[in-house]
Amino acid sequence: MSDSPSLLTASRRFPPSRAFVESASINATRLAEMRVAADDDYVGFWAKLAREQLAWKTEFITALDDSNAPNFRWFADGTLNASFNCLDLHLATRGDKLAIVFESEPGARRTYTYRQLHREVCKLANAIKSLGVGCGDRVVIYLPHTPEAIIAMQACARIGAIHSVVFAGFSATSLKDRIEDAGATLLITADGSVRNGSSIELKRAADDALQAGSGSIKNVIVLRNTERPVDMKAGRDLWWHELLEGQPEHCEPEWVSAEHPLFLLYTSGSTGKPKGIQHSTGGYLLNATVTCQWVFDLRDDDVFWCTADVGWITGHTYVCYGPLANGATVMIYEGAPMVPDAGRFWKICQDYGVTIFYTAPTAIRALMRAGDAFPKSYDLSKLRLLGSVGEPINPEAWMWYHEVIGKGRLPIVDTWWQTETGAIMMSPIPGAIDTKPGSCTHPLPGIFVEIVDEAGTPVTENSTGGYLVIRKPWPSMARTIWGDNPRYIKTYWEQFGPDRYVVGDSVHRDEDGYYWILGRVDDVLNVSGHRLGTMEVESALGSHAAVAESAVVGRPHEIKGEAIVAFVVLRGDRPTGEQATALSKQLRDHVGMQIGAIAKPDEIRFTDSLPKTRSGKIMRRLLRSIAKGETVTQDVSTLENPNIVEQLAYPA
Ligand code: WT7
Repeated sequence: MSDSPSLLTASRRFPPSRAFVESASINATRLAEMRVAADDDYVGFWAKLAREQLAWKTEFITALDDSNAPNFRWFADGTLNASFNCLDLHLATRGDKLAIVFESEPGARRTYTYRQLHREVCKLANAIKSLGVGCGDRVVIYLPHTPEAIIAMQACARIGAIHSVVFAGFSATSLKDRIEDAGATLLITADGSVRNGSSIELKRAADDALQAGSGSIKNVIVLRNTERPVDMKAGRDLWWHELLEGQPEHCEPEWVSAEHPLFLLYTSGSTGKPKGIQHSTGGYLLNATVTCQWVFDLRDDDVFWCTADVGWITGHTYVCYGPLANGATVMIYEGAPMVPDAGRFWKICQDYGVTIFYTAPTAIRALMRAGDAFPKSYDLSKLRLLGSVGEPINPEAWMWYHEVIGKGRLPIVDTWWQTETGAIMMSPIPGAIDTKPGSCTHPLPGIFVEIVDEAGTPVTENSTGGYLVIRKPWPSMARTIWGDNPRYIKTYWEQFGPDRYVVGDSVHRDEDGYYWILGRVDDVLNVSGHRLGTMEVESALGSHAAVAESAVVGRPHEIKGEAIVAFVVLRGDRPTGEQATALSKQLRDHVGMQIGAIAKPDEIRFTDSLPKTRSGKIMRRLLRSIAKGETVTQDVSTLENPNIVEQLAYPA
């Protein structure tokens, strides 16, 4: 378990302002009614919402099919199309409304109305079809955070192709692994992207990935985004703009079962191999849609800005699918928050009249550190709601967000969820409950959680922490791990019995029944809100010729939440001084090449051996406290090599 909950438990409560409550779509009374309905019949609750909120081609009859539990199926005999719900549905009423407002880091601006977005999606969908991609085929999208990434996702959804977005910060090796695992036939990428002033060579990484394998790819569509020169392989590579020329502006949506996979998204677990989380069309879209209304109080005149990259689940649910299904205006910024300075986010909020701002604690902390002068020099008066996601938000950052950005009057929604849950699971309903800095408050209506101890026994007493589990299926739950259903069952449905979804987080409930997420309990790190497996980094290190063995742990970091510390045993002698510095750099770069820059260890400590029990298990807890710089007070006498502790703690 992580730090003691008492450190987090603030007694401060912040009720929503009267003005917010009065205009909110859900107030306390309405929330109570929703809870009663969901508690009474959760399947009926979701079924009613699915009928009201989504446009179906054929209505479903069976809401929940649990005959193959834990492979639950929702609305499976109904058919629909996600892109139709996000685009076509709005043409009559909001055709000329802005769907996307875009700015790039160097300052290029572009907008798309719903009609324009619909047209671009249809053209790309037709183009993809002309390449032979059909319903159920996998398309890997390796694009920067641009409108075209959304267009590509929507185009896949339109024809029933399953997209798998690979974050543009991932390396060629990561891309190759994901393409191969998914058996994708089409890759959509760009010449490059500009971030922090330097260019990311996406096409080159794509070429490296394809050279190294990934034989299933037949074509590569290349978006011209930076005008950087790229190699185009004849017969395989096609320019996006050339391919779209002359494509019809209408594309009949493919009507698929609600259970048809909408997308795969790879995420880290406690093994070296990322898992392809498979999401459905109907259930996923339902939770994406309603959580925008419940949690963000989304209205027609909002400008909604979720800063997450489309390469993560947050970008899928709260940039691409949820807001568009609600006909909202979405802000997209392709760039870093500190360019040219720490005022960039606030300038964007001002320039585009952003009303709802949703970001990660790591960004909030970095912006907080840059000082109040930046936000104070911009007009943030259009903002009406703030959100946080990705990791526990420390009360200090929450208070800064509240006071400096929210001027003490805006509600903050601290939203807890995961790649696997598809949409927000726990969060304040902003017009209905008081918030507490650092708590995600309560599960949403229709979501049933429980805290259990090591043995799986429910913890009923408040103030006692434990493992978070989810007790009932929900529509946007992951359906399986692509190509590995046994791993899906083993990872999520075994530890505490077949009817408890294992979250992997520890949690504590306070005396008022508020939930406080404490962090991961498995070997998963959370670096700047990004999930990384310690084993994944270890296997990247292990693939370097000089490395014999390594152990990777997280250490608290002021801005990033967690920093990566690697303890490394080399095949040869333990290096010291300059040699150690040089090798550290080499290994960091190697991990960057294997996974991506986000996985580069912050610190590498070379050691003669790792602390192991006599049965050969690495004592990670010990390494964690050493990495933190704590004095070792644990009993190390059971170690196979107790003498190593000195060397680990005080590296030469
Ligand atoms: C893990 C999921 C879901 C969006 C981004 C991350 C942690 C996420 C919160 C929050 C405390 C949070 C959990 C979770 N997490 N949001 N509001 N408070 N912790 O998605 O990469 O699938 O990671 O992020 O540990 O299990 P992800």
